[in-house]
This record gives sequence, C-alpha cells and structure tokens, in this order.
Amino acid sequence: MVGKITVITGPMYSGKTTELLSFVEIYNIGRKKTIVFKPSIDNRYGIDTVSTHTGFQVKAHRITKASEILDYITEDIDAVFVDEIQFLDVQLVEIAKELVFKGIDVYCAGLDISYLENPFETTSKLLAIADEVIKKRAVCEKCGEHRATYSYKIVPDGGEIDVGGKDKYIAVCRECLKKLKG
Ligand code: ADP
Ligand code: TMP
Ligand code: MG
Ligand code: ZN
Repeated sequence: MVGKITVITGPMYSGKTTELLSFVEIYNIGRKKTIVFKPSIDNRYGIDTVSTHTGFQVKAHRITKASEILDYITEDIDAVFVDEIQFLDVQLVEIAKELVFKGIDVYCAGLDISYLENPFETTSKLLAIADEVIKKRAVCEKCGEHRATYSYKIVPDGGEIDVGGKDKYIAVCRECLKKLKG
C-alpha cells in the first residue's frame, strides 16, 4: 500500500489551517493514527499547537528541520500533517516521498507566495509532486470579494520571514493589490 500527498495552499486567512485540521479530524474519526507537525518559528497562538485564526487548536510537534519528522514515524502511523510548510527546508519534499512509499498519507499546508509575491521554495516543490492540490482564496479586506490571492503587508518591511497576523498582513485580491501599489 502507498500513500498520497495533498498540499493546501493560498494566501493568509484563506482557511489553509482550518482545512488541514478538518482532515486530521476525518482521519481521527476513522480511528486512523495521525501526527501533526509545525515549524518552531511559528509561535503565534501557542507553542505546541497548530492554530487557526479563529482559535481552533490541535496538539502538534514542533520541528526546526523537516528531517526531524522521521524521528516520530512509527509503524502504526496512517497520516502525517504539516502546517506552515513555507518555513521548513526543502528536505520536506524527500521526506514526503519517503512517507508515501511507506503507505503514509501526507498533508501539507502553507503559503504559496510571500508578501513580495515570491514563491516559497518548499511549497513550490511540494506542489510539483502533490497528488492533490487545494488552492484556497480569502475574502479581500479591501473590496470584500471572496477572491483574495495575495497577503499584503501593512507594516514596514520585517523581511520575507516575519511571523504575524492581522497586525502585519491583510488578504487582498489582484484588483485591490494593483490599486494599493498605485
Ligand atoms: P490560514 O491558515 O489560511 O491563514 P485559517 O484556517 O487559520 O487560515 O483561518 C481561516 C479563518 O480566518 C476563516 O474561517 C475566518 O474566520 C478568518 N478570517 C479572517 N480574515 C479573513 C479573510 N480576509 N478571509 C477569510 N477568512 C478570514
Ligand atoms: P497563515 O497562512 O496561517 O496565516 O500563516 C502565515 C504565516 O507566515 C504568518 O506567521 C505570517 C508569515 N508570513 C511571512 O513570514 N512572510 C510573508 O511574506 C507572509 C505573507 C506571511
Ligand atoms: Mg494557517
Ligand atoms: Zn479586492
């Protein structure tokens, strides 16, 4: 038996973590053994949890390198879930391939592009090898349409890796991004 790779991507607030956690629930209801990971850099709503912007949380293992996932893999695991993959190293691609050949399903969620519109390398590479891609949209915080594909930074540049929420970023559509850029 082999597993499959699912990647959930899109801008901030598009519901990536919500969807990831709904898959965790589906596996758990089916009495499957799940394990959840997140990069330790993400300390937004708690250290040992994956959290949605609405406050829903699930216990997670913190990792600093993708290869640490392998330390937790046992015979009985059915599915592995990783949030905020944009913050993990590209080794995650090899790990995902290894896991699916062991028969484990792999679910990854993360940003496709930074606020500078640069693709995040780990997400891009996982998208290329995924069996299933779920591309989400957020509500544009300027025009209110459910078509936002960009995360726009509303504070001075803190770099392309800059953890935060509504204090730093809003979701906008292409039309509104064009206006914001002037
Ligand atoms: P992501 O992980 O993609 O950032 P989450 O799953 O953590 O998203 O959060 C999604 C939730 O964020 C939505 O269900 C909604 O309650 C809230 N939210 C806040 N701002 C927006 C927005 N601009 N568009 C859509 N949902 C938003
Ligand atoms: P989210 O997709 O679950 O909202 O989380 C995205 C995280 O990534 C959040 O901590 C902010 C951070 N981030 C960056 O570090 N750089 C960026 O360019 C963007 C858009 C977000
Ligand atoms: Mg999230
Ligand atoms: Zn808009």
